Amino acid sequence: MRKRSVETKAAHAGARFPVSPATYPTAMPIYQTSVFTFPDLQTAEAFNRGEPVYQYSRTGHPNGDALAAVYADLEGGEAGLAAASGMGAIFAVLFSLLGPGAHAVVSRETYGTSYASLEQDFRPWGVRVTYVDANDPVAVEAAIEAETRLLYVETLANPTLKVAPLPRLGALCRRRDVLLVVDNTFATPAICRPLEHGADLVLSSATKFLGGHSDLMAGVAAGRANLIERAKAVLARTGATVDPFAAWLTLRGIKTLPLRMARQSANAARLAAFLRSHSGVERVYYPDGDPLLPDGAGAMLAFAVRGGLAEANAVIEALELAAFVPSLGDVTTTVSHPVLTSHKHFAPGARAALGITDSLIRVNAGVESAEEIIADFAQALEKRGGSAPTSEA
Ligand SMILES: Cc1ncc(COP(=O)(O)O)c(C=O)c1O
Repeated sequence: MRKRSVETKAAHAGARFPVSPATYPTAMPIYQTSVFTFPDLQTAEAFNRGEPVYQYSRTGHPNGDALAAVYADLEGGEAGLAAASGMGAIFAVLFSLLGPGAHAVVSRETYGTSYASLEQDFRPWGVRVTYVDANDPVAVEAAIEAETRLLYVETLANPTLKVAPLPRLGALCRRRDVLLVVDNTFATPAICRPLEHGADLVLSSATKFLGGHSDLMAGVAAGRANLIERAKAVLARTGATVDPFAAWLTLRGIKTLPLRMARQSANAARLAAFLRSHSGVERVYYPDGDPLLPDGAGAMLAFAVRGGLAEANAVIEALELAAFVPSLGDVTTTVSHPVLTSHKHFAPGARAALGITDSLIRVNAGVESAEEIIADFAQALEKRGGSAPTSEA
């Protein structure tokens, strides 16, 4: 071994540390490196020929590729990609399929930031968008034009939990030569796999149930390999590649996804049944019994408290277990208020037409004891005569 100075030793700390070749790590290591060292010029040539050689982490790294492959496998897709957030995945997919002069048909009940991106990024670029009721296939078909490239829907609408009729939409899209792209964030592949029902691409915010613990931001997409390759190229150019640690955390979360979804679905179903029987509740939105969801209807539900904003606020304030969190997918039970959070940019008339009223509370049922979740909502509903909020949360 050559004798090295302290400066040289320090600068090369940890590089080429010999790892035992006889065993391999049980948990995937985190490849916290921005770049990979090439042993020779032949390896650089192999990379340039498109061979699977890691070069620079924005274009791909083992943790991101493992997450992409696992998500593709869970959804039943040929290939997958992993992005820095759900929006990163959505933008890359839409950008790779649309362009000036193109037309998209999009569900009226699409996540607010997806809608904002279509209106503020895609429309000024020359993309036309028609919004439809995804549960009305006749209206969907009527909206399709010669330039229509894709139909974009969510498996479960936010916050009304309407189930998109995926088999009918898939058949319609095949007949009209339009791609069906589905946001599966609320359902997850543990509950519904849209590619099995005719979708060409499926995507999810991994920030929610795939991660499951509110401690990461990531997004994923899966489907036909040629479509995923195009979206992956956009990701690499726009720099929205997932971070190695976020990908690692997501994979860790995915290990328990089916267990969490089974438990959270069962808890959501029990909470929905309780709320349906409560005199202080006007309406409950939960898709149990839908033929597209034979393994449980997921963790998300919503209910309208009898009354208005003051009554909804009193219930949210009185909840002890369920925190007011403007997100979803956690292992703990959380609530959100669509009018003041996710749907604040919608015109009041458009919101009301979708059933999104001041008294509506959205719930992410967690993994806690079902009896204790129900008891929490029972005691909170008793206090629903409270005061109106003083400021917009
Ligand atoms: C249905 C849906 N899709 C996509 C997103 C965006 O995901 P992210 O926040 O990870 O960018 C969200 C976030 O709330 C969502 O609810």
